[in-house]
Formats: sequence, structure tokens, C-alpha cells
Amino acid sequence: MKIAVLNGSPKGNELSVTIRYLFYIQEKFPEHEFVYFEIAKKIKILERFAGETEGEFSRVIEGIRNCDAVIWSFPVYFLAVPGQLKRFIELIFEHRAEHAFAGKYATSISTSAHYFDQLAHNYIQAVCEDLKAIYMEGFSAEAYDLMEENQQRNLCLFTENFFRSVSVRSPVARKYDPLVHRPFLYEPDATTAGTKSNTKKITVLSDHLPGTNLEKMVLRFQACSRFDVEIINLHEIDIKSGCLGCIECTAEGMCVYKDQVRNIYMEKLLQSAAIVYAGEIRDRYLSALWKLFFDRSFFLGHRNIFGGKHTALLISGPLRQNPNLREILESYLLTARMNIAGLVTDEYDSSELISGLINNLAESLDWACENSFEKPITFPGYAGHLLFRDFTYKNSYIFREDHQFYSKNGLYDYPQYNRSIRKIRQSFERMFKNPAFMKKTRKNLKQNMVRPFQRLFKKDHSG
Ligand SMILES: Cc1cc2nc3c(=O)[nH]c(=O)nc-3n(C[C@H](O)[C@H](O)[C@H](O)COP(=O)(O)O)c2cc1C
Repeated sequence: MKIAVLNGSPKGNELSVTIRYLFYIQEKFPEHEFVYFEIAKKIKILERFAGETEGEFSRVIEGIRNCDAVIWSFPVYFLAVPGQLKRFIELIFEHRAEHAFAGKYATSISTSAHYFDQLAHNYIQAVCEDLKAIYMEGFSAEAYDLMEENQQRNLCLFTENFFRSVSVRSPVARKYDPLVHRPFLYEPDATTAGTKSNTKKITVLSDHLPGTNLEKMVLRFQACSRFDVEIINLHEIDIKSGCLGCIECTAEGMCVYKDQVRNIYMEKLLQSAAIVYAGEIRDRYLSALWKLFFDRSFFLGHRNIFGGKHTALLISGPLRQNPNLREILESYLLTARMNIAGLVTDEYDSSELISGLINNLAESLDWACENSFEKPITFPGYAGHLLFRDFTYKNSYIFREDHQFYSKNGLYDYPQYNRSIRKIRQSFERMFKNPAFMKKTRKNLKQNMVRPFQRLFKKDHSG
């Protein structure tokens, strides 16, 4: 069989960790031919020639069409795929090249630190299903898994199973319904902005185009908030390129690109009391431009410097049909420990309702900013911290800025370092060795669990 390997790492075949997994299976399955396509590294050339019948883009599409199956090889970048690969996916739809994938078996192999890697795989699966490909669950490895014998074996078994399914054309269950676009023109009624207070600043980051629902949603929000709202349109800022994955920024927090991205993060977003993210859905994510902007925040490392900031989202497009995208966006913000005041989409048949929801969102965000309301932490924020904490500790010699930040802010909060927890654990372990004590404590366990709360109440709730 001929296998098309789509390399989504900006580092290319030469330096990508992920593509090593493909080289490995290529050697283990010499009976199959592997055809490599540099996607992320060559995205600018692919984009330049996308509309032409000859040239790099058509060559790649033709090459994929001539293969029996497709393997997407990518690093996980910000809970999804790198912006460059995302752009390639947009080009496929824009230039009606879906035919190259239709009816073809596809899967993915990724490497990552396992931070929301499943969402990246879900994204590729949804895209493949939209392309009418037959997608089989992918293989999500931690970067150095391939060095372990057991994981090499797993990778080979995974590949063998994929090739077998391709050759016998096994039926495969679909995970996502096709997207149904219900174009609705949002026409907000006229609203006059009230007197604005400059005590707090809100920044709206958006990628809207003129005349779109998204632009009207953003303007509505700006008019409704009681605070100064600055709108930054990603189309109007200088972004040289997507993240190269070079990790040069890990030493001193400086990106190799000297464009406006750093300033936007450090001088606009960091100085704002609240940030509103506004975007339009393209395929199963927001635009590739948005993805580039998120990816380029890598210079901020794993430091939750936006922690405690208030945030909200304005999304144009079928988000309710796209739960994976919602999870990507919310998990990203929750890991950064931001307070999400709400999310409004234009998936309604009534402009009045959309306007009402935006008014309410502006009010909620203003209120949260004024009162410094903090929502309780939930799983993504908690688990994300633990994962980053361990990752930073393990890689402290590379992620130097992160390591200093974690040390200085007491974020290496392993329980074993906490003396009082250690003491309590040790004394309880000793006492629980006594069967009589164990029996008695177990008997009253439920009562003991609620006892500390009693001092908060006037009434006796001890039952
Ligand atoms: C911009 C950027 C974003 C990343 N985002 C994630 C992420 O969301 N989750 C994760 O587990 N790893 C993330 N990583 C780590 C990469 O997925 C990991 O280093 C991968 O092995 C790189 O593969 P490659 O060498 O093939 O590009 C990120 C790395 C970079 C540079």
C-alpha cells in the first residue's frame, strides 16, 4: 500500500520528533510505501499556489489522491494542531480538494506532553469525517515514548491494525455528525453607548471581517459594556508567521520573531481587566489566524500570568454542533485560571435574542471585573496545573523562565513538601495500624467528614 504522511510539524521531516514515529513504522513495515508531504513547514508556498492547477498545493493534493491511506503526523499545539496545519485544512475546503480524502482510510500519530492531546485528535477526526474519509482512532504518544520497548511494540500493533483495516476495508463508526450551517443575518437594533468608565479596561481580540455577524457582535458588546473597550482585530496586526516550535523562547521568554504579537500579549492583554475572545468558526476550529496567534503565545511558557483575569467569548458559527471546539477554548482559558463570564454565539433565529445575550454578557463581565469575582477552579485548571508543574520540574534545564517562576511563586506544591500534611499523614498511618482505632474511625467516618462545617452555622445540622 501507498501511505500518505502529512507532516504537520513546523520543524519538518528533518527535526520533528513526531515524524520519527513514522520513520520507525516505515522500517518495521517495509512492504508498504510511505510518501511524505511537508505541510506545516511549507505552508506559505502551499498557500501561495493554492488556487493554481499546477504548483505545490496541487502536487500535494494529487499525491494524497494517489495514496491508499493517510496518516496525519503532528505535534499537539495548544490543545489542537499547529496553526500551519490548520491553514492547510482550510485550503483543502477553500479549493474544493476534499476529493483527495473521500473514501480513504485515515488516522493520526501525534506527540505531546498529553496536555489535552485527545482534543487535537478529535479535531482531526472531525475534519476527516467532514472530508468523507474513514477515520480510525489515532496514536497519541508522549514525545519520548518511542525510546521504550513497550511503546515501540504498541506503535507497531497500532499500525498493523490500521493497515489490516485498510486492506479489508473494515467498517468504522463515525464520531461526529456533519456540520449543518444555518446562515442567519444578525441585525442588532440601534444601541447608544452609555457613559464609559475608564477605571477598568476590556480588550476584545477578534478576527472579524467587515459586515459579518461577528463584527456586529463585537460592536454590540463594545457599546453595552460600561468600561472602555478596545477592539484589536488580528487581521490588522503584524504577525510574521506561526510558531516554529524552535523553543528558543524557553530560556528568556523572547520569541525569535520581532512582530506585534508579543506587544499584544504583554502590553494589551496583560494590562486589561478582562479579555474577550471573538472568532468565527472555520471547519472545526476558529480561523488559522486565531490558531497562529494562540500558538505564538508559547513564549509565555507554562506560567499562568493571566490567572484571575476575567474573560468571555463571542463565537459566530455552529458551536453547539462542535462540542470539541468548546472544550478546547474553555480548557485553554480554565488552565490559565481565567474566570469565564460567559459565551454567546449567533446560533439563534432572533437578532433580539442575540442582542439580549450580548447585553447580559457585557453586564456579567463588568460585574465580575468590579467585584473581582472568582469562580471555583474546575478539572482543567486543576489538572492542567499539576501537569505543567511536573513537566516544568522535569524539564527545568530547558524551560528556565518557567522554572524560576514556579520556584518563586511556590508552585512546586507537591504535598510531600508540605510539612503539616506530611505530619498528619504519618500520625494517622501510625494510628490506623491499630485495628480498634481503625474500626471506630471508619464507623464515624461520615459524621467526621461534616463535623468541621458545624461552626459555620447557627443551627445544629449534626443530625
Ligand atoms: C507552540 C507549542 C504548543 C504546544 N502545545 C501543547 C499542548 O497543547 N499539549 C501538549 O501536550 N503539548 C504541547 N506542546 C508540546 C509538543 O506537542 C511536543 O513538544 C511535540 O513532541 C513536538 O513535536 P514535533 O517535534 O514533531 O514538532 C506544544 C509545543 C509548542 C511548541
